[in-house]
Amino acid sequence: MSAKQTYNTITPLFSVEVIEKRVSEIGKTISDDFAMLTDESPILLIVVLKGAFMFAADLLRTITIPCGIDFIHASSYGSEKTSSGSVSIKHNLAITDRHILLVEDIIDTGLTIQQISAELLAMKPASLGICTLLDKPDARKHPVAITYTGFVVPNAFIVGYGIDYNERFRELPSLGVLNS
Ligand code: IMP
Ligand code: MG
Repeated sequence: MSAKQTYNTITPLFSVEVIEKRVSEIGKTISDDFAMLTDESPILLIVVLKGAFMFAADLLRTITIPCGIDFIHASSYGSEKTSSGSVSIKHNLAITDRHILLVEDIIDTGLTIQQISAELLAMKPASLGICTLLDKPDARKHPVAITYTGFVVPNAFIVGYGIDYNERFRELPSLGVLNS
C-alpha cells in the first residue's frame, strides 16, 4: 500500500492550526492556575507515554511558569482498538508533596487514568490534576475528574499528533479519525 493510500483512510478532525491554538489556551490557563508556585517547588507535568509525548512537548512550550517534566509508561493489554481490563504501569517517580499534572492523550473508558491516578495518589502528592488532549465521554466506564480538556470527541478511533494505531500514524501533525 502506498503512503497516499494509507493516509486516505484518515478523515481530518483537527488541523495543525486548531490544535496549536487550543494547546496554547490550555498552557495559559495552567500558567494562571499555578502562578502561585515558586521556583523551588514548581509544578511537575507527568506525561503518559507514548501517546501524549507530542501534546506534552507543545504544551510545555506554552507554559510560562517554572515547570518540571517526568514520564510514566502505561499500556493496556487486549485487542488493538479497544481498551482491555488491565493496565501495565511503569515509572520511577518521586512525587511526595509535589503539585502533579498528569498529561494524557485520550481518556476513553477512563481505566488507564484511573489506575495511574490511584498509584500516584498513594505516593501523597500535594495535588493531582489531569490534563487530556482528547476526551471521549461516551466511552466512559470508570469516572474521572478531568481538570483540563483539549477537545471533546465522538466515540471514534483517532490517530495522529503522537497518537497511534498499532504504532502507526504518530508522525501525522494533525488529528483524524481512522476509518475501519
Ligand atoms: P482508557 O483506559 O479506556 O481510558 O484508554 C486510554 C488509552 O487507550 C489512551 O491513552 C490511548 O492510548 C488508548 N486509546 C483510547 N482511544 C483511542 C483512540 O481513539 N486512538 C488511539 N488510542 C486510543
Ligand atoms: Mg495512552
